[in-house]
Amino acid sequence: MTEDSAPPAVSPRPREPITFYEEVGGHDTFVRLVDTFYAGVAEDEVLRPMYPEEDLGPAAHRLTMFLEQYWGGPTTYSEQRGHPRLRMRHMPFHVDPDARDRWLGHMRHAVDELDLAPLHETTLWDYLQRAAFAMVNTFEGPAR
Ligand code: HEM
Repeated sequence: MTEDSAPPAVSPRPREPITFYEEVGGHDTFVRLVDTFYAGVAEDEVLRPMYPEEDLGPAAHRLTMFLEQYWGGPTTYSEQRGHPRLRMRHMPFHVDPDARDRWLGHMRHAVDELDLAPLHETTLWDYLQRAAFAMVNTFEGPAR
């Protein structure tokens, strides 16, 4: 083997593919998203009473962990909460189209505030919309 055809002394390691979580800015981005979202929920006359705890902090933390895990970040959500089973976990709540649209309205505002690149923004928003539509568990009027 001549010197020219010899492999490089240090062969480059194939790089780990970068996750969506990392691409959009990691933990800080998800914290900002969820904090802005919950600031909206705190003022929402339909959504706010659905949250059993007085302090929205723990609920915000659960949503942050879930979204981080979904997008390829740390798997803390499952370590602490087990399998997400989100539809099942929402069954105790009256998630009708009005609640869904309110949830999405606050989330839309929170996504806008992140000022992401268009592809990232569309990817995130498509997912949130699909997930919110899938969470609806009643079409009956408010039994609140
Ligand atoms: C469509 C309207 C929705 C409403 C009204 C709603 C409402 C709620 C409520 C009242 C809780 C309980 C608060 C808590 O203790 O954590 C909750 C929990 C949660 N929600 Fe939603 N939610 C909606 C959609 C979604 C969507 C689309 C996602 C995911 C993308 C999501 C993710 C979660 C997570 C991860 C939890 C915590 C589950 C746990 O580990 O206990 N929610 N939601």
